[in-house]
Amino acid sequence: MRENKILTAEEMAEQEVYVARMRSANQAFAAQSGASRRAFVLTFGCQQNEADSEKIAGLCEAMGYEITYAPEDADLIMVNTCAIREHAEQKALSIVGQYKHLKAKKPTLVIGVCGCMVTQEHRKDEIKHRYPYVDLVFGTSSLHRFPRLLCEKLERGKRLFCPEESEYLVAEGLPIRRESSYRAWVSIMYGCNNFCSYCIVPYVRGRERSRAPEAIIREVEELVARGYRDITLLGQNVNSYGKDLTERFDFADLLAALDRIDGDHRIRFMTSHPKDASRKLIDVMASSRHIAHQFHLPMQSGSDAILCAMNRHYDTARYLEIVDYLRERIPDITITSDIIVGFPGETEADFQSTLDMLARVRFDMLYSFIYSPRKGTPAAEMEQVDPAVKSERFSRLLAVQNEIAVERNQPLIGKTLRVLCDGVSKNNPALYSGRTEGNKIAFFEGTPEDTGRYIEMIPERVDAFALYGTKK
Ligand code: SAH
Ligand code: SF4
Ligand code: F3S
Repeated sequence: MRENKILTAEEMAEQEVYVARMRSANQAFAAQSGASRRAFVLTFGCQQNEADSEKIAGLCEAMGYEITYAPEDADLIMVNTCAIREHAEQKALSIVGQYKHLKAKKPTLVIGVCGCMVTQEHRKDEIKHRYPYVDLVFGTSSLHRFPRLLCEKLERGKRLFCPEESEYLVAEGLPIRRESSYRAWVSIMYGCNNFCSYCIVPYVRGRERSRAPEAIIREVEELVARGYRDITLLGQNVNSYGKDLTERFDFADLLAALDRIDGDHRIRFMTSHPKDASRKLIDVMASSRHIAHQFHLPMQSGSDAILCAMNRHYDTARYLEIVDYLRERIPDITITSDIIVGFPGETEADFQSTLDMLARVRFDMLYSFIYSPRKGTPAAEMEQVDPAVKSERFSRLLAVQNEIAVERNQPLIGKTLRVLCDGVSKNNPALYSGRTEGNKIAFFEGTPEDTGRYIEMIPERVDAFALYGTKK
């Protein structure tokens, strides 16, 4: 057994041989043809997957590929998949299906599929048999082996399906190609031990393992020194951070250490599990300089019976205790949550309890999902709720929450808010958009120089999803 679940420098150095081999092959190609080989990385799923994709892209660059955003120009396509709901898997499979035509046009194209979906054996088999033009498949335990796997695939010419590792470990030092020059993801831990009865994550991401505090602190220091303004710490349950480390150092300690780094930046984190969101953590936030006044605390259901069936290990009373303490210590805190509707056995009374909790807590924003059975999880074997009932409840939930969200945003009208500008809005190209400290979306008339900087704006109008105003 390893002391901490971290790959050694020697184990990591093995990959460098393959990175170098790929780089010289790609350089030779570029010298001969006058153009670099190009790689396209497509990401599905959560921020953890986005962070992984930045490593895949970083490795591609190290191997001599130029990153492209146009799949039709690519010599290598990597699809980083998600398995959280059936819809996420179907979307990924459908995109992979579309790449068949690209391969027909360019037979040298290499198509790889990685991430949570293909960490499941049945999906790996499906790709093997139904998508014969996919060249390379590996799951989340093998991400750090990507250079070796790609190199082997290219040198041997055969399709390669990598079995999962017996133990999921932390790989330090992989190159990261960050998508943004002012917002960054920092994974602080990987995996999950909670086995909520509906959730596939523990099966596709392995057991919890924490990065060493020094490695995280160094990464955040470097980001701040390079001008990053908004840093989100990632983990499936950040409140478990440090439990697997040999030294005693928990998530609140980590936040306190990171808060000591000087700079003009905010630190966020996700996700917190209510069963171990501590008072100590909230106290650290309340007295911090850089930790954003935002808390994402997935409730999942407002019914104690359903929470128990979900294996969540808290009840609504405990949930409310955390919310009340958060608001007591940090009155301007933005609280957001995740809700699943139509979990097996959910009755109308259970659902009503969820609506009651919405009215009591008054979330700023909610990510709501219709329950999707996941093969291999306990809830998939339970008695299912009728699909029509699920979608009817889902619409009712959205209607209740939309009203609450507008009411939560209303008091911000006329206030001066500090917003990190993200540039011209994709959905609303006449306006610029950005994020407030509470991570609310704000729209305003901006200038190109605002992008990546903090601006001050005053909201004049709000809806359930955003604030609209003018720059001060
Ligand atoms: N680790 C985080 C969440 C990870 S998944 C946490 O524990 O909160 C993000 C959200 O997807 C979950 O909070 C849950 O609301 C939703 N989700 C997970 N499995 C689901 C399923 N089988 N069907 C529908 N929604 C699901
Ligand atoms: Fe899934 Fe629960 Fe782990 Fe979150 S805490 S990733 S919902 S098993
Ligand atoms: Fe999806 Fe994997 Fe994230 S299943 S939600 S990409 S951890």
